[in-house]
Amino acid sequence: MNRPAMEGLRLNAPAHVRHTRLIGWVAEIDALPEAAEVYWCDGSAAEYDRLCDQLVAAGTMKRLNPELRPNSYLALSDPSDVARVEDRTFICSPRREDAGPTNNWMAPAEMRAILQTGLPDGTPALFRGAMRGRTLYVVPFSMGPLGSHISHLGVELTDSPYVAISMRVMTRMGRPVLDLLGTDGDFVPCVHSVGAPLQPGQKDVPWPCNATKYIVHYPETREIWSYGSGYGGNALLGKKCFALRIASTMGRDQGWFAEHMLILGVTNPQGKKFHVAAAFPSACGKTNFSMMVPPAGYQGWKVTTIGDDIAWIKPGKDGRLHAINPEAGYFGVAPGTNVHTNPNCMESLKRDVVFTNVALTDDGDVWWEGMTETPPAHLIDWRGLDWTPEIAKATGAKAAHPNSRFTVAATNNPVLDPLWDSPEGYPIDAFIFGGRRSTTVPLVTVARNWTEGVYMAATMGSETTAAMAGGNGAVRRDPFAMLPFCGYNMAEHFQHWLDMGAKLQASGAKLPAIACVNWFRKGADGKFVWPGFGENMRVLEWLIGRVEGQAGGEDNVFGISPRYEDLRWDGLPFTREQFASVIGIDRDAWRQELALHAELFKQLEHRLPRELPATMARIEERLK
Ligand code: OXD
Ligand code: MN
Repeated sequence: MNRPAMEGLRLNAPAHVRHTRLIGWVAEIDALPEAAEVYWCDGSAAEYDRLCDQLVAAGTMKRLNPELRPNSYLALSDPSDVARVEDRTFICSPRREDAGPTNNWMAPAEMRAILQTGLPDGTPALFRGAMRGRTLYVVPFSMGPLGSHISHLGVELTDSPYVAISMRVMTRMGRPVLDLLGTDGDFVPCVHSVGAPLQPGQKDVPWPCNATKYIVHYPETREIWSYGSGYGGNALLGKKCFALRIASTMGRDQGWFAEHMLILGVTNPQGKKFHVAAAFPSACGKTNFSMMVPPAGYQGWKVTTIGDDIAWIKPGKDGRLHAINPEAGYFGVAPGTNVHTNPNCMESLKRDVVFTNVALTDDGDVWWEGMTETPPAHLIDWRGLDWTPEIAKATGAKAAHPNSRFTVAATNNPVLDPLWDSPEGYPIDAFIFGGRRSTTVPLVTVARNWTEGVYMAATMGSETTAAMAGGNGAVRRDPFAMLPFCGYNMAEHFQHWLDMGAKLQASGAKLPAIACVNWFRKGADGKFVWPGFGENMRVLEWLIGRVEGQAGGEDNVFGISPRYEDLRWDGLPFTREQFASVIGIDRDAWRQELALHAELFKQLEHRLPRELPATMARIEERLK
């Protein structure tokens, strides 16, 4: 047999794959990690079930009790592979300044030597032989509704069946994407290996991974290479790697935004619907906000979910910014989720879920901290060890890892927006930016103009969470909630937002409002003052009122805030004093805050738009 024919046999490409460049690329990559075989995913339910059975047989997943949690699984990862690894995440643009000072950078050739070609001293490339003994899965996926002009396609090559099944839930995956790709459609190539080759006869471990990890992006060639981790955003390459880091560079070049934002629809009792996109850092309640239940006193209001983590936003024919959710599922943080904080999410999780790193109950169901007030008397914790409330008290052991997750299709969500899959996207009325701050930042302020809004987004700070390895509650600047996700120089991202605003304004379009929120201010007793969750509807109503030119407010040093009487309090006992303690501006705290903004601007000074220090100067002036 000649070589192309042998390659054809080995590649196993189905007859309906007609894309020569795709087949050539799979063949080229396949030669490097030396997988035992190649399998093309079709995205069918039968395939999903088969791979899940295989994962159960391998010990990676357990099937949950079908009477309590039908069609659901629990995966327990290696304890070293539990979160995104930001210090191992690289933006390999040709010049360091294109990645900017907030990203890890390495020259593309240097990185390719480590991953693909080998080092001059003879050290083999990490991907050389990395998939031995495993199957290479070809996973074609669409980020965004199939065929939408806002969507983009990708193909992930992975040696992890857990990644393959997760990609089926999190994206539109399989045969329809190959059909869309046709003979020459564009796709973002993504290569992933857990970095744990098997010798002949070697028994696999339940969660293969490697202590060495590289999560690598080449923005210029729009490529992603990920090595050593099987977890979440490190491995499901459609999510953070493509839909944020690579897409943000596509957006900069092509005139659109890829943002770390939920998207929701909110309909008032008169039936008028608004669309809001909101950026919060990881594990700060985006999923809860996107599925919010309006509180008592808000009869006739409806919130519907469009997305819970990522928004792609492009100018539409009407000159307005239209957003889609590029994802098709939720990869949400489990701890803290319960019937009070997010009843719609709990409803979504009743069946068809892959849980990762939560605890297992004795009757084959799942539990995590915060799910119920009283924990079960006995559990198997996320490390596979016995757990009881007494053990927890004595050792502090958590039953579920703080970054444990659920993976579930959006279609399980009872408040999914009926048009969530619409290719046209939704016109956005307001953007919200919010961090987790126990002090300083008010409950809500709306920017007086686009530039002030961009300033709010650019200077956002937040206390770090378990979603990143090593997150410990320290405040860090997290511009646009994109610090770990911007695929290019953050200062240029600020410029991109300013430029888009100017362009849209010049075309006569009404720009979305921009607001800054903080649900997390604490009182002297160390407790949150604002009740949050469904009560955030009050803030949302006020913001919509501002968009409509109807709600009152007063100027402060940092935008416009509601007065007590500008919010509706039906059904919530919240005093003027409590309100003052979440809305007030402490001038000393703000002077310190501005010093931190100045530090960020210094770090980004090389390409920082002049409008931002000018806006800061105006705030300083008002503080006097
Ligand atoms: C996520 C994250 O998984 O932001 O969404 O870490
Ligand atoms: Mn996120």
